Formats: sequence, C-alpha cells, structure tokens
Amino acid sequence: MTSICYLLLSFLLFVAGTVQETPQEVVTRYNNYKAICKGLDFKNVGNKDTIAFQSSLIKTLKYVSSRSTVVFDKVSLNEGNAYDKISGKFTAPSNGIYFFTWTTLSNAGKTFGTDIVRNGEIIAKNFSDGRGRIGFDMSTSHANIKMKKGDKVWIRTHDTWGQFAHGDWCFFSGLKL
Ligand SMILES: *[C@@H]1O[C@H](CO)[C@@H](O)[C@H](O)[C@H]1NC(C)=O
Repeated sequence: MTSICYLLLSFLLFVAGTVQETPQEVVTRYNNYKAICKGLDFKNVGNKDTIAFQSSLIKTLKYVSSRSTVVFDKVSLNEGNAYDKISGKFTAPSNGIYFFTWTTLSNAGKTFGTDIVRNGEIIAKNFSDGRGRIGFDMSTSHANIKMKKGDKVWIRTHDTWGQFAHGDWCFFSGLKL
C-alpha cells in the first residue's frame, strides 16, 4: 500500500514537474539531449532521404559507336527519381558519395567494353569478352564516386568495343551512401 502511494506520489510529482516547465525549458532540455546524442556520435538517419535505383536494358545492343551512352531503359526501382531511363543518366540530387554497379552480357565472339563516367570523365571500366568462347560472357564492375549536386554519372561504350549487349541481361544500379 505504502509503495503504491509512493509510486503515485512520485508520478504526480513527475507530472507536476513536467507541467511547470516553460516551453523554453523544454526546448533547452531537448537541445541538451540532442547534444549528448551527437556527442555519442548518434546520427539522425530516421528521415534520411533514400536515393537508390535499379535498371536494365530492354533490347539487345549491337555495334554501338564509340563513347555512346548505354541507356538502361527499364527501371524496377527509382527511389528519389535521380535516374533517368530516357537519357540513361543519373543526376546527383545532393553532394555525397554514391555507389554504382553495372553488369553486361556479351555474345560468343563479341565484346562489350564499358566505362562509368562522371560528367564525361572515366572513373572505372569493364570488359565483357566473348571472344574464343562458345557461350556468353557476363561481367560486373562497380565504382564509388564523389558527386556534387547536379553531377551526372552514366555508362558509356569504350571505344569500338561495344559490339554486343544482350537485352534483359544487362543491369545498372546505384545508391547514395
Ligand atoms: C570486369 O570484367 C571482367 C571480364 O572481362 C571480369 O572478370 C571482372 O571481374 C569485372 N569486374 C571488375 C571489377 O573488374
């Protein structure tokens, strides 16, 4: 009984104590908590805007000219709408580090060489090489790219090596770290 009363009293005191706080005091208390969390290196990720896309090639590409954009025209995910399936280009919605990966499948006897470029500058390359093979050759590469808001990243054919990319078997995806 006494313990219940004690409990009740402490509860009432708690409520009264909260009520007596001025709005300014509430804000100060909140800011103090925030400062402690920040000091402990907690990050507010609850409202982080997710940027992520996943795309693929609909039709097979054959003998694509040098330095052409490979337009992955089918999109299954485009959180944040940073990837444009018409131009094949990804535009950074904000400054940061972005991760990309792409996959191509070339036919027997054919190649498909690709570069990933930021505003036209080559960051990484890959080369599907079906020469001397009976079956297809599938290859994947990836890149971590620092981007400023508005910078563009896309996949481009490397010189004249864009000979064959199998529709439905080539992919391009990315996300903001
Ligand atoms: C790029 O392509 C080749 C095939 O030519 C593959 O072996 C390699 O693992 C790919 N990826 C990277 C990251 O080099």
